[in-house]
Amino acid sequence: MTDGQHTFRVLRFDSADDETPAYQTYALEASPGMTVLEALLRIQAEQDGTLAFRYACRGAVCGSCAMMINGREELACRTQVRDASRQGRTVYTGSAREEVEAPGSDAQMITVEPLRNLRVIKDLVVDMEPFFDKLVAVEPWLQPEQAHPPRERRVGPGAWAEAEPYTNCILCACCHSVCPVAEQEPGYLGPAALAQHYRFLADVRDQAGEHRLALVDGDDGVNGCDFAWNCVHICPRGVPPTKGIAKTRARITRERRGDGRQ
Ligand code: FES
Repeated sequence: MTDGQHTFRVLRFDSADDETPAYQTYALEASPGMTVLEALLRIQAEQDGTLAFRYACRGAVCGSCAMMINGREELACRTQVRDASRQGRTVYTGSAREEVEAPGSDAQMITVEPLRNLRVIKDLVVDMEPFFDKLVAVEPWLQPEQAHPPRERRVGPGAWAEAEPYTNCILCACCHSVCPVAEQEPGYLGPAALAQHYRFLADVRDQAGEHRLALVDGDDGVNGCDFAWNCVHICPRGVPPTKGIAKTRARITRERRGDGRQ
């Protein structure tokens, strides 16, 4: 028993060459439950050893296998071939900020492309360095006043509930890929970095306060968000970056009013 013959249409590109990106197709008989990552591994092993892509955990934990699958940001290790070829999936067009239905005219055809808004190094491998630079810029670590308390810093369930959803981020960059502002503004910190910023802003143990708010105050920070909500819809881990951005923005406004600056 199989899930049928599928054609994988993969966007190929090598930054070491001058050639323009081009699609290459591979035919593969999909076994039941086969994921897109498993299909790519089969293609790489049996048909084309030059095909490049990233993966590590194969369990939706490390975030390294994120790619565009039939026009939608997905984790390849969590996306079954059968589901990827289903008609009527919702995809998000970054700049237009609108939802469209994937054409799905050929249910057996699966188009695989690299993430958007990041430079392609080879095939499905993108340069994650600018993405991680932005993450580091928001200082995603705890900054308490007291460096070493005699006992652990305790957080009650109620206090933790605000920060907890943001701890589920696996830094796959799906949200960065689908963000219309990241597409237009290379300096914009982006939903992943701003979500991680809010994770620490909401943490009752963190006392970076004004310093932390200043890290994201401006058009490259929370003011840059257009509230498209694409990032919330696409996140494979249910992280809501837009909510965190809105709350950070509101807090900056409140603090300014308190200072008499606005
Ligand atoms: S391989 Fe780790 S998330 Fe897919």
